[in-house]
Amino acid sequence: MKALVLGGGGREHAIAWKIRQSWDCDKMFAMPGNPGTAQVGTNLSGDPNDFQAVKKAVLDNDVDIVVVGPEEPLVRGLRDRFEEDPQLKDVMFVGPGAAGAALEGSKQFAKEFMERHGIPTAAFRSFTSEQVDKAEAFLGTLKAPYVLKADGLAAGKGVLICENLDQAREEVRQMLGGKFGKASSTVVIEEFLSGIEVSMFILTDGKSYLMLPEAKDYKRIGDGDTGLNTGGMGAVSPVPFVDEEFKDKVRNRIIEPTLKGLAEEGIPYKGFIFLGLMNCSGNPYVIEYNVRMGDPETEAVMTRIDSDLLSHLCACAKGTLDKETIEISEDAALTVVCVSGGYPGSYQKGKPISGDPILFSNSYSGPVKVFHSGTAEPQEGNLVTSGGRVLAVTSNTPAAGSVEETVEEGRSLAYSHIDRIAFEGKYYRKDIGLDIIRYCK
Ligand code: AMP
Ligand code: GLY
Repeated sequence: MKALVLGGGGREHAIAWKIRQSWDCDKMFAMPGNPGTAQVGTNLSGDPNDFQAVKKAVLDNDVDIVVVGPEEPLVRGLRDRFEEDPQLKDVMFVGPGAAGAALEGSKQFAKEFMERHGIPTAAFRSFTSEQVDKAEAFLGTLKAPYVLKADGLAAGKGVLICENLDQAREEVRQMLGGKFGKASSTVVIEEFLSGIEVSMFILTDGKSYLMLPEAKDYKRIGDGDTGLNTGGMGAVSPVPFVDEEFKDKVRNRIIEPTLKGLAEEGIPYKGFIFLGLMNCSGNPYVIEYNVRMGDPETEAVMTRIDSDLLSHLCACAKGTLDKETIEISEDAALTVVCVSGGYPGSYQKGKPISGDPILFSNSYSGPVKVFHSGTAEPQEGNLVTSGGRVLAVTSNTPAAGSVEETVEEGRSLAYSHIDRIAFEGKYYRKDIGLDIIRYCK
């Protein structure tokens, strides 16, 4: 079978790496991919948002299954274009159509969907650019901190948490005034939830689903969760408070009502759903839905799946997921992301990356896997930085002894490998997993 993964970050490297392990995978392609995906397959140039380019790649290479990494092609309707095209009707496709992708593409749609189906989430109201005064008045009825969200996709920057009312009023005026362009022409204002966040993932064909391993993401740039928000500086899986009782609550209160709600509203859904959850005193609340896997969570999660991902993905596309069983290893995975100096602000690209080449290669058999996020290889063997997030270094540690010992071992493996990699401006958080150790003590 020939598979095509769309996207070119660490998430796509991890998905491609896992698919490639399947006995049924004859060929693997990534568009545009990166030097990491090039080790497990063939990179094809082209933009995943460009339907004609994706179609050509599929037809030229006899691709059987397309797996979409990022949300944007889905929100723009890539699946719908596939379904309308007679030449592509037999190609399996993992990722929802535009109607389902609105769960991520429109915060207002997602909040109203949860309200309609009784899914626990923060109380909210939404406002358009004609309602600035009403939005400001509503803020006056809430307690700090204030959570403001641009309705549409805003490259991960559309959520603002303001500590005081004046700042929140100013922000809502700016957002509704076009701070994020069309994405913030509607703004959702919601209640602040305090608790611990966790990312949970399902693969669904709209009727059945497989629950993937959960992960905890580390969003801010600085140790101790300080400084600017980033796309994610690390991840740990499993998360100790996600026990069977918590999972049951997530299944009963969130996953099943979500799938039932989609079906009732006539929205077919075949793909991943990423539940960004807040654990508020043992009860899960949905902070956000994403219609893709998380990054860097995927770089941890994929290493814990023991069963055949390609088989699960094909079953998802064919609507036969009820026949699949996922096997998850007991190992702990811990991912630390090495970023370019200056990220998430401006940073330089093209810095040579040095280190033992075996570390960056698919044939490295150590307990650590280096996933490529923002790297390029202008000449063979010359790896350079090409993005903010450069490499995601994942360790896998067998669960022996206490959770604290396992995570400690995972940290020492990941960090000792990071010490063997160098590039100018290399930065990473030193505290990935420490909160888990504290939590378990
Ligand atoms: P989102 O893009 O909706 O995931 O929001 C980005 C981040 O903002 C989340 O990962 C949370 O850390 C935080 N956040 C969003 N909504 C809330 C909320 N209602 N209460 C507390 N924190 C929130
Ligand atoms: N790591 C969070 C995300 O992928 O949205």
